[in-house]
Amino acid sequence: MAVLVCGGAGYIGSHTVLELLEHQEEVIVVDNLVTGSRAAVLEKARLYIGDIQEEQFLEKIFENHQINAVIHFAANSLVSESVNDPLKYYQNNVHGTLCLLKIMVKFNVKKIVFSSTAATYGEPVNIPILETDPTNPTNPYGETKLTTEKMLRWADDAYGIKHVILRYFNVAGAHIDGKLGEDHSPETHLIPLILQVALDKRDEILIFGADYDTDDGTCVRDYIHVTDIAQAHILALEKLNNDNTSAIYNLGNGKGFSVKEVIDCVRKLTKHPIPVSISPRRPGDPAILIASSKKAVKELGWKPKYGDLETMISSAWEWFKKHPEGYGSNGK
Ligand code: UFG
Repeated sequence: MAVLVCGGAGYIGSHTVLELLEHQEEVIVVDNLVTGSRAAVLEKARLYIGDIQEEQFLEKIFENHQINAVIHFAANSLVSESVNDPLKYYQNNVHGTLCLLKIMVKFNVKKIVFSSTAATYGEPVNIPILETDPTNPTNPYGETKLTTEKMLRWADDAYGIKHVILRYFNVAGAHIDGKLGEDHSPETHLIPLILQVALDKRDEILIFGADYDTDDGTCVRDYIHVTDIAQAHILALEKLNNDNTSAIYNLGNGKGFSVKEVIDCVRKLTKHPIPVSISPRRPGDPAILIASSKKAVKELGWKPKYGDLETMISSAWEWFKKHPEGYGSNGK
């Protein structure tokens, strides 16, 4: 029986494929390579290049393989892009999942692990945020992920498709052995951008807002290592195989770091001065996002291993030094 990983050539997807292969799973990857890289898919996984919205393409894969479960990463995930182009997010995130679920119903595949996000909460009412807290997204990205979560709930009721929804906080770092890393084009994420400054590929880092109601005025985020996130998917699959019930889990470290603290940590590790400028707030950014992941720890047995910020940044730094152009043009 195989696991189908939609979006398995992306940053989090590729790290999860690696963990699945280490657990001796048969892994089928589907990716349209719009944001993913061919080079990020390990040879032992079978890669199909195409879009989950192409019904015949997806059907062929379900015909060719005995799929037991789906892990679904395939989505657009940039807050600011979603504010400027919300329909792209409804198309790829909501409609994409709808197409996938239709085929799952057709082929009687009843387990899915879904990539969701802290952006479903919007401005939090409590810190740390619990899974039961209100969800009022402040941007279309979070809204489309929340809409998809609701679609999964109704699909469970109607067709018995069981889901584990994982709400990631700020995923960071690279595989600790340097096998895989983070490569976005264009890059918009804080840590890779600061590391580009450290590599002298960029002159400075813009701090989006220093007037937030936080200790140093900059936004606070809960950073979590990508391999710890990947591990949670293995545990989520185990849960679906063992007790066949649906659930939602936050995935974070429960510790917040401000933009300025992250920059200071990169300065310390790279010995680069990292020049900064203060620029206006970025639309859709909540001031503080910190997870309570107690539920995942208790119910999934999740134990994040690379929880300190220095490990996250130094693993990313090692990969960037070796891959200053990311996976490079051959990566596609
Ligand atoms: N930031 C800057 N300057 C930059 C880039 C980012 O100040 O050049 C700030 C942002 O304003 C934010 C923080 O750094 O306060 C982190 O920004 P990222 O773009 O790295 O990450 P986001 O918090 O916007 O979003 C990420 C994922 C989302 C996910 C969210 C959940 O990209 O998919 O974490 O917390 F929803």
